[in-house]
Amino acid sequence: MKQFYVIGNPIAHSKSPIIHKHFAEQFGINIEYDLKHCELNEFENDLIQMINQGDAGANVTLPFKERAFEFCDEVSDRATLSKAVNTLIFKDGKSFGDNTDGEGLVQDLLYNNVEIENKRILIIGAGGATRGCIPSLLAQHPKSIMITNRTINKATKIVDELSLLNESSNVFAAPALELEAHFDIIINATSSSINGKLPGIPEQLLINADCVYDMFYSKQNTVFLEHAKSCNQNIQIIDGLGMLIEQAAEAFYITHNKRPVTKKLRATLRSSL
Ligand code: ATR
Repeated sequence: MKQFYVIGNPIAHSKSPIIHKHFAEQFGINIEYDLKHCELNEFENDLIQMINQGDAGANVTLPFKERAFEFCDEVSDRATLSKAVNTLIFKDGKSFGDNTDGEGLVQDLLYNNVEIENKRILIIGAGGATRGCIPSLLAQHPKSIMITNRTINKATKIVDELSLLNESSNVFAAPALELEAHFDIIINATSSSINGKLPGIPEQLLINADCVYDMFYSKQNTVFLEHAKSCNQNIQIIDGLGMLIEQAAEAFYITHNKRPVTKKLRATLRSSL
């Protein structure tokens, strides 16, 4: 039986085993899928051990996605653009890496009937979560993507790197207080919600927007989604639970060449929060 892991630190909370086993059942595929807690200095050694013992692949979560990118023998274009890998496939002693986080975000937006094509998108944050989602958002042909961040030079750096790859003609960076434009979709890709904090953007942006997305999720709405709703009653709010499920669906697809349906799992996981 093929052995898979989700590898991270911490990892005990991960829903990946439930999600991937659910997908495998849809196709009658037998897999072993386990949690792998990894010490911070052992990540590469643990991957080598997995390859040596013939494991089939792994999903990678915090804080190892950038190191997984460096480790791989081969990576996808979207992983190269994001400099991070969340899906590893091992074959013939080699490792192939991909990043399905951005596709997870895109698929969840589309599942929620949010159009991306020709829309103006604002992403708050300039860490790995932002890097991971830009290639897939660009593939949907938005009108523009603006990145804002508390530390603005990190946002500018992403735009500069994309421009070196000729990928940034409609990606921009600006400090939050200088944002005047109207954005259709606002995505919180910061970790502010984990600490119950707001990411700090002018309320007018929320008043003007059609949709806000928070990559974080919890049983109750995040403070950012609640804040958006209090600024604009008509705004559509979406949290990151669907992104988690859709990134896993994309990872399952590239690993098993079968595309799972996510509707039932969405309801199951939502009610288990
Ligand atoms: P990840 O890989 O999940 O994106 P990260 O690389 O640590 O995590 O990035 C976290 C992001 O959240 C950063 O953009 C960070 O802003 P800084 O670059 O200025 O540190 C942002 N962030 C975290 N807490 C925040 C807060 N309370 N308000 C605004 N931004 C915050």
